[in-house]
Amino acid sequence: CGIVGYVGAKDAVPVLLEGLHRLEYRGYDSAGIAVAGDGLEVVKTAGRVGDLRRAVPAGLSGTTGIAHTRWATHGEPSDRNAHPHVDAARRVAIVHNGVFENSDRLRAQLRADGVDLVSDTDSEVLAHLVARSAAATLEDAVREALAQVEGAYGVIVMDIERPGELVAARRGSPVVLGVGEQEMLVASDVTALVRYTQQVVYLEDDEIASVTADGYRTSTMDARATTRTPTSVDVTGLDYEQGDHPDFMHKEMREQPDAVDRCLRGRLDHRFSSARLDGVGLTPQDYQRIRRVKLLGCGSAYYAGQVGAQLIEELARIPADAEPASEFRYRNPVVDPDTLYVAISQSGETLDTLAAVQELKRKGGHVIGVVNAVGSTIARECGHGVFLHAGPEVSVAATKSFTTMAVALAMLALDLGRVRDLSITEGRRLVAGLAELPRTIASVLADEEAVAEVARKYAGAEHMFFVGRVRGWPVAREGAQKLKEISYVHAEAYQASELKHGPLALINPAMPTVVLLPDDELLPKNIATVEEIKARGGPVIAVTDATLPADLATDVIRVPRAHDSLTPITLSVPLQLFAYHLARTLGRDVDRPRNLAKSVTVE
Ligand code: G6P
Repeated sequence: CGIVGYVGAKDAVPVLLEGLHRLEYRGYDSAGIAVAGDGLEVVKTAGRVGDLRRAVPAGLSGTTGIAHTRWATHGEPSDRNAHPHVDAARRVAIVHNGVFENSDRLRAQLRADGVDLVSDTDSEVLAHLVARSAAATLEDAVREALAQVEGAYGVIVMDIERPGELVAARRGSPVVLGVGEQEMLVASDVTALVRYTQQVVYLEDDEIASVTADGYRTSTMDARATTRTPTSVDVTGLDYEQGDHPDFMHKEMREQPDAVDRCLRGRLDHRFSSARLDGVGLTPQDYQRIRRVKLLGCGSAYYAGQVGAQLIEELARIPADAEPASEFRYRNPVVDPDTLYVAISQSGETLDTLAAVQELKRKGGHVIGVVNAVGSTIARECGHGVFLHAGPEVSVAATKSFTTMAVALAMLALDLGRVRDLSITEGRRLVAGLAELPRTIASVLADEEAVAEVARKYAGAEHMFFVGRVRGWPVAREGAQKLKEISYVHAEAYQASELKHGPLALINPAMPTVVLLPDDELLPKNIATVEEIKARGGPVIAVTDATLPADLATDVIRVPRAHDSLTPITLSVPLQLFAYHLARTLGRDVDRPRNLAKSVTVE
């Protein structure tokens, strides 16, 4: 979900709607706004921010307000369940990102006290608890109320009897203050603020802020004052414009050569044929002590971690594997002091990944971050790591973040390799391969129309397989993920070698298979896979940088040759284009696929 608040001299309504529009990628089941106008005025609706904009009456205005765009956890998306929630007297309004885990008990208690709960949400309780507090200040009332809830939250609260003030607090869900001239904003991420200010303050967990037009005051939940000075963010409103592109996903795919270039900048060490990742904060001696590498992430970040694990094993000969961060933290993992843990996240706010990092730290594990969003919770929690510098990614489907994650992990693998067995000659080849990547990706993108044509041809398929071996396997998984996320076509990834152990039974003329054929030592095996599928009448879309026998595949998507180790990166890009054009052919909203959110800050 996304939350935003405004207090200042301007009319809050357009600022809040603009903020919500920017936050919509965090959830878009329902949206709502509350302003201190003629009393507490609340407008909320199931649907998108655009629907809310239409529902807001022309006269609605006020100089203090809060707003929310929701990704439903408790209670179906509806007008009633949309935030802001208010107390019975319509004095206090709240917006909440996160989950109150003990809400059932609190709801029962409130009901027993005669409070009428109007929604099915866990969040509503907060409005009632704040309103019922006898504390002298809004800040203390919020403090008291939050002391009763369990779970994660980022909240903003307003009270029309204390006009000109917002109170914000966080535990587990991000809250950032935007410091303007005689105005202040509060939001769940900087996206909503950068149009108005570049000066921001990130709240820490268990911190609360009282915010007025003149400034802010922060303190801990147990009322000890804290000092937070604003920092500058280097993104502006312009980074969030889609320009001439039909949507953000297209823009972000197209930005990949530049994003990769920024990710590599200053980090390739031509002299030692290595990479220079200063942010990792480890010496060559530390590197030598590493016995294992464990990479953790969710969704595309997990698949990028799989690419990274393979690169680390291949180049540094250190056992490495990737695991979904959510699974890791729930299975009471053995945390080993000789293992390097790597947390991978575009947003730096995914709760499952953050919780894995916290669990690791508690158990004495050494964890670094591979994160795009500077200043994000995971980046700060890790303290050390590699920033992707991919620029803001707005579309729900990861594109340039996936690619730059893989590039950052390739550099880490190179660096780990070069303090071990990787020769200077091999190092040099890889440095050259990395330096060449922006151009290679640009030429893949230049062939967009050819990929689009293949995609349109398969837009009628109900199911699709994606298969690859070793280097091609995480690419297949990410390709299948992209397709299902944005087109809703059922797609499954398999190791090409596993096909004959089960899934081959499903091959028929209505089941196309995308086969990854990197030009490496496994090419003959992958060609054999294509033959196996063809023999069962299945159409094959070959994605390759090799020269294939004529008529081998039904359709071929070609990419230019790259360094062997880097083919997972170059082969992923056409799969993004494939998913994108297939989804567009089906008329899907590629930037905002149903049921998903870009940044999942709940469990
Ligand atoms: C969500 C998004 C995915 C993303 C995953 C991890 O599920 O829909 O596209 O890969 O979160 O996000 P992160 O910000 O941690 O990379």
